[in-house]
Amino acid sequence: MERTFVMVKPDGVQRGLVGEVISRLERKGLKIVGLKMMWIQEELAMEHYAEHAEKPFFQSLVDYITSGPVVAMVVEGKDAVKVVRTLVGATNPVEASPGTIRGDFGLDIGRNVVHASDSLKSAEREISLFFDAEELIDYSKSGEEWLY
Ligand code: TYD
Ligand code: MG
Repeated sequence: MERTFVMVKPDGVQRGLVGEVISRLERKGLKIVGLKMMWIQEELAMEHYAEHAEKPFFQSLVDYITSGPVVAMVVEGKDAVKVVRTLVGATNPVEASPGTIRGDFGLDIGRNVVHASDSLKSAEREISLFFDAEELIDYSKSGEEWLY
């Protein structure tokens, strides 16, 4: 089973979309194994978005992600990284398909509701950046392999 990192960004929290995002992940069959609200400080924001450090939007991205509380999650399931990226939709909400989170709720690339890891490697990096090992809970939903 694969794990990925998902975060409801400050605009998603402000707009009351936390439940909507969690609900979509759960309905898909993914299992939440870590969940917390936090207010990201600048240092963690810069580390999280380090790959974008040279981009023109970097500072506004850091300012935005530290502007209010976020809800950080680790979700587990078959092909979780890819499946969550599909549910989230394209980075720019203008291009994101209807039915995706960004396609249904976003308008602005700088306010695109959610973050999701883009690869297994990023997922491992981001999970360890945001969660201590003891904050991730191992449990079975049913004991049955076939129940998604
Ligand atoms: P990126 O990692 O490319 O997108 P994703 O969140 O889909 O993995 O970019 C990180 C965030 O940076 C993105 O969610 C929104 C913001 N961003 C901008 O503000 N302007 C841009 O031109 C891009 C590409 C991203
Ligand atoms: Mg990304």
